[in-house]
Amino acid sequence: MQKILVARPIFPDVVEWLKQYFDVDANQGDLLPTEELTRHFTDNKDGALTAGEPINASVLAAAPRLRVVSNMAVGYNNFDMAAFNAANVLGTNTPDVLNETTADFGWALMMAAPRRIAESEHYLRAGLWQKWSYDAFIGSDLYGSTLGVIGMGRIGQAPARRAKGFNMQVIYHNYHNRTRVLPEIEAKLNAEYVSKQDLLRRVDHVVLVLPYTQENHHTIGTVELALMKPTATLTDIARGGIVDDAALVEALHAKQIATAGLDVFEGEPNFNRDLLTVPNVVLTPHIVSATEATRRAMANLAADNLIAALGEGPRAGRPPNPINPDVIGKARS
Ligand code: GLV
Repeated sequence: MQKILVARPIFPDVVEWLKQYFDVDANQGDLLPTEELTRHFTDNKDGALTAGEPINASVLAAAPRLRVVSNMAVGYNNFDMAAFNAANVLGTNTPDVLNETTADFGWALMMAAPRRIAESEHYLRAGLWQKWSYDAFIGSDLYGSTLGVIGMGRIGQAPARRAKGFNMQVIYHNYHNRTRVLPEIEAKLNAEYVSKQDLLRRVDHVVLVLPYTQENHHTIGTVELALMKPTATLTDIARGGIVDDAALVEALHAKQIATAGLDVFEGEPNFNRDLLTVPNVVLTPHIVSATEATRRAMANLAADNLIAALGEGPRAGRPPNPINPDVIGKARS
């Protein structure tokens, strides 16, 4: 039987399913530090199922038989794809199944932040509510405002679709190597492509939905925040590192923008604690895809990818979501 690592706890029935095909080493602890992760591979694993664990050249070197790493996430910035390609190791991810769930949660943050839901709930819980006041927790509207989407990909189009129901104008910008979406998609979403600067100047609410890459590091920093309206909201459901969190703390304190909703952070779970000093920000612990149905769909897809890539099951040899399909069929190097 081929050997696999399941790098952190997932649905037990998915582990049982994998056991039908593989000898499974299921880590029951949390995120494994690189050295420990490497140790799990030294017994010649053939595959692994990860959820954000960093897989780089040194991990791959420790596992000379490893042929596939299946990430239970759409983002795969935890994979060093140059190292995967050099070693002929296949990476897979779980796109599409989380688009709507992610957009729903982004929408929730985008409503909670400008309507100051978390901030006012803390006030109520602290027993500070004494009277009604015309200007208590005054915020800004979503309905009829301008939505800016940075990263109009599979996920980014989902909030843009929701914007119709809120009578919002949609403008968008794409990241470094992507430009416009197809004209028919633009027409359907009634979305206008604009430069990043234009977008930042015009938006009432901006949502970030782009993958993390080195080029996208600090896509939003001091300069960008300075372009935004003092009434604007920033929502980040993408990846830590796309926003310069220290710059955001300063911009929020200085009221350069009104508010932010963040589900992802630089260095998470060790996020910048200065964010806790800012009342006008809604903070959630990377739970954007966390519904029962979607997490199950992601786990099932990650298992499907692994089983198929290791030549087992009904799709043997044809994993549904290869990131670097060119390595399929090539000998491990
Ligand atoms: C979640 O962050 C994902 O990339 O799926």
